[in-house]
Amino acid sequence: MRGKIIENVTIMTKMMLQMVVKEGYRCIDATTGNGHDTKFLSDIVGPEGMVYGFDVQEQAIEMTKAQLEDRSNYKLICDGHQNMETYIDGPVDFVIFNLGYLPKADKTITTLKETTLEAIEASLRLLKTHGILWVVVYPGHDEGAEESEALDIYLKGLNQKDYSVMKSSFINQRNNPPYIMAIEKKC
Ligand SMILES: C[S@@+](CC[C@H](N)C(=O)[O-])C[C@H]1O[C@@H](n2cnc3c(N)ncnc32)[C@H](O)[C@@H]1O
Repeated sequence: MRGKIIENVTIMTKMMLQMVVKEGYRCIDATTGNGHDTKFLSDIVGPEGMVYGFDVQEQAIEMTKAQLEDRSNYKLICDGHQNMETYIDGPVDFVIFNLGYLPKADKTITTLKETTLEAIEASLRLLKTHGILWVVVYPGHDEGAEESEALDIYLKGLNQKDYSVMKSSFINQRNNPPYIMAIEKKC
């Protein structure tokens, strides 16, 4: 029997990654956490592609490394995503952010609106034309609510000639469920 499809942001993200990301792409996972998205991206881009993964927690980098094992198509960086341009030059095809804190870990180590906005701006500079930025936003905790508000203001302000910006949310779910912001760089 067919499984659930429009169920949550994780399923939607996987579907989109399978549709959009291709072999040989250069991608950034701006918040590796447990490494699930990094591994998924590494599987898709294959040996000719590259996935750069950022996290501020050594624990997250180690968990991600354990998932990727001896592949050669990734680089993990234990630093804030706001510094991504220090490590990556040249255009990238795809950037993903899964905001918030690592589940079952220290909830005080969470993404913050100031550094998230800096990193989003850096991502838009690094993206190539028709590159995609995918941001999963968690407004259900205090920092996340502020981050969500700041992101909304910033992304609504992007010129529509230069960027397409889409917000995708589960409008019948209770308790501020996570939602997705998807941005395509048009030129
Ligand atoms: C929701 S988790 C990511 C989950 C991950 N995508 C996965 O598949 O398991 C958010 C992560 O962002 C990290 N983080 C917080 N601030 C950051 C920053 N400035 N730069 C990079 N990572 C950050 C946290 O340490 C945490 O691991």
